Formats: sequence, C-alpha cells, structure tokens
Amino acid sequence: MTIQKIMVVGAGQMGSGIAQVCAMAGFQVILHDMNEEIVQKGLNSIKKQLQKQVDKAKLAAKEKEAIIQRLTPSANLENAKVADLIIEAIIEKMDAKTALFEKLDQLADEHVILATNTSSLPITEIAAATNRPDRVIGMHFMNPVPVMKLVEIIRGLATSNEVYQQIEDVAKKLNKTPVEVQDFPGFVSNRILMPMINEAIFTVYEGVAEPEAVDEVMKLGMNHPMGPLTLADFIGLDTCLYIMETLHEGFGDDKYRPCPLLRKYVKAGWLGRKSGRGFYHYS
Ligand code: CAA
Repeated sequence: MTIQKIMVVGAGQMGSGIAQVCAMAGFQVILHDMNEEIVQKGLNSIKKQLQKQVDKAKLAAKEKEAIIQRLTPSANLENAKVADLIIEAIIEKMDAKTALFEKLDQLADEHVILATNTSSLPITEIAAATNRPDRVIGMHFMNPVPVMKLVEIIRGLATSNEVYQQIEDVAKKLNKTPVEVQDFPGFVSNRILMPMINEAIFTVYEGVAEPEAVDEVMKLGMNHPMGPLTLADFIGLDTCLYIMETLHEGFGDDKYRPCPLLRKYVKAGWLGRKSGRGFYHYS
C-alpha cells in the first residue's frame, strides 16, 4: 500500500521538524499534539523555518504556501484513523509511549505502520504494547531535522522485512539517508555520541578544562561542527541524562555511569538552551 498521509504525534522540536520534512517531500501531514496551542506553536515554528528559506531564495514563496497547505493540525487522536503511517515524537518516557501505542493500535487501520522517533528506548518493548509488533519500527531523526541527513532505522525483534523496506523508502523520499540498526540500548548514534558528551562533562567535573576549552579542542582538533558541551546544551541536558541512564541500565555496565555534574545541572533546572542555562548562558 502506498503511503500518502503521515500523522506525526508530538509537535515539539523533533515532531515539528519531522512534519516539516514530510510536508516538504509532498506527503499530506497531520501534526498532532494534546492541545491546539501546542500544535499551533509547532506549526508556527515550521512557518518560520520555511520563511527563512524563502528569504534566502532557497524556496519559492508559492512552494512555501503549498507545503503549509499540506499540514493539518490535530488535537484529536481519532485522526489516526485516516493515516497511512504514524510517526511518534512525544516525551522520552516508556509509560507515555506504550500508552500512546496501545491507543494508536486500536485506532489505526491494521495495515498502518507505527514508527517511533525514540532516541534510545527499546523498540521491541514499545511494539509489545500493540497487537502488530511486526508493524512497529524505530525512525530516529537527528536535530535539527530539516538539516541533518541521517535517519537511523531500528528494527524491533518482530519488525517485518516488508515494513523495514517501506520505511527505508519513506526516509529516502524525505531526502534523508537511512541506516539500518538493530534494537540495542542507544542504537548506534546515542551509544557513541552520549558517552563522548558524558566524558566531556567529566573533564569539566574533574577540573581538567573549562567548557569553552573542551569545546574548542573538539571543534578545532576533531572538526566537530559543535563542541560536545554546546551540543549537550542544544540536545537538552535532561535528554542527555535520560539517555545515559538508559545505556547504564540497559547494559548494566558502569562505563555508562552518568557524570554527577550532569545530574546536578539537571536537578538545578539547568537544561541547556531550552531553559536559558546549561554549560553556557542563553538569552
Ligand atoms: N532548524 C532548521 N535549520 C537550521 C537550524 C534549525 N534549528 N539550525 C540551523 N539550520 C540551518 C540554517 O538555516 C542553515 O541553512 P542554509 O545552509 O540553508 O542557510 C544551515 O542549517 C547551517 O546553519 P548555520 O550557518 O546557522 O550554522 P552552522 O553552520 O553552525 O550549522 C548546525 C548549524 C547544522 C546545527 C551545526 O552546528 C551542526 O551540524 N551541529 C551538530 C548537530 C548535531 O550533532 N545534531 C545531532 C544531535 S543528536 C540527536 O539529534 C539525536 C539524539 O537522539 C539526541
């Protein structure tokens, strides 16, 4: 069956980015969240991003309008009944995800694929909350979604080959590069990225260097576009801590122990860019 209508559940930063690239690729998109205010906020951020591209003459004003026309706001989960593919991008909490997948499983037609943008939670466990574990898959986009080429596609234990193929095709239509990964904690991206960020935080914690110095070393020495602490602030320190805890628990290995300084910052509400303070100050 051809996928034409995609529902994105979660209109935060990741969900809005996913909805934007889907609409830009020509799909009809339903952008859903718990209330209309959150959905409007997501839609406004998409419009702002598109306008920036128009201003830079990278997108025609007419095309921008056509993309916006393809986006339908939703605050009613019943809209899942008309979707061909559902991509979930809600909070990184297993309880919230399984509760949502149970509901989506009841609402969506039986052929519909349920994808999750989780950054580290087990796909197999999310799939087990449904009666269609063969049609549940991980579709992990990177932030900022419109810019980053990668989509990590994660097979749950029961994901069928046909579903994998369909999702790989969708990722290519989104002008992304899909990479196939098996379902283990942190997949590939965060299994490698987060311990590096955690180690960068340990170097600050142990007084080896200031945050600016750590970032400078990695930017100028390793050609990273952002230093690890700038990147941690960009991702959100609460998210970084949560992923480290998922790795620590999932592997039962202390090499993934979150740095106490990361815990302290999160407890203080220093969550990075989104809270105005993390390793750096943001106005
Ligand atoms: N949304 C949309 N577009 C954005 C953007 C955003 N938030 N931020 C930047 N851009 C666009 C800019 O508009 C610009 O576009 P054009 O080339 O069309 O003009 C382009 O990206 C480059 O931006 P800038 O020139 O302003 O800045 P830059 O060259 O420093 O690039 C960056 C910004 C792309 C964010 C770059 O710093 C970068 O690649 N950083 C690393 C990002 C990264 O590692 N992401 C992965 C995070 S991990 C994750 O997402 C997974 C997880 O599970 C935690």
